[in-house]
Amino acid sequence: MRKARLAILASGRGSNAVALIKAAQQENFPAEVVLVLSDNRNAPVLDKARSLGVKAIWLDPGPKCTFLIPEVEKRWVEVLREHNVDYVLLAGFMRVIKKTLLDAFAGRILNIHPALLPSFKGLDAQRQAWEYGVKYSGATVHFVDDSLDSGPIILQEPVKVEDDDTPESLAARILEAEHRIYPEAVRLLAQGRLRIERRRVRILKEKHGG
Ligand code: GAR
Repeated sequence: MRKARLAILASGRGSNAVALIKAAQQENFPAEVVLVLSDNRNAPVLDKARSLGVKAIWLDPGPKCTFLIPEVEKRWVEVLREHNVDYVLLAGFMRVIKKTLLDAFAGRILNIHPALLPSFKGLDAQRQAWEYGVKYSGATVHFVDDSLDSGPIILQEPVKVEDDDTPESLAARILEAEHRIYPEAVRLLAQGRLRIERRRVRILKEKHGG
């Protein structure tokens, strides 16, 4: 069976990108990472992806800091199409996705967020949760829609906040959870096992035999 073709969009360190690439390099994984795109010329993710044999390129993000203007998003879409990408995975991509990219990959863009959504949207979610004093935070993989961190939720993993945690120690354990649930969500997606029913994502059982 043809493997689904994945592109990862990332702005920084790239630990989720590495987790996804390594998972996809396992023999029975139903998808392959064909491209990593970064808006940050100096992002470590670029070299990390290349060292794992994945094409990684910096693309000009244009004049704005928090999103890509429509003409720039159009160029990013062209590059994704040139690589026959089926699904786009945001992995620490620090820009809001706008209409041009959303329309081009409707229902085919995923994001990882370091909190149990809908709590603690936006930046520095691990610190937000720690400062609020929650007893559990965690990680969420969700479909991307036109609002920030708000699309239908695919998988979540809770992480207990310990009394002696700092924002950094909590973030480190949340990151381990991210590295588990993101590849798992992508596997389910590529196997065609996710059904969105209004806001709810139903996970279909694995098919056995024919
Ligand atoms: C991850 O913790 C990811 O969940 C978060 O950025 C980090 C990127 O780390 N994303 C967001 O906060 C998006 N709202 P990585 O570059 O090592 O994968």
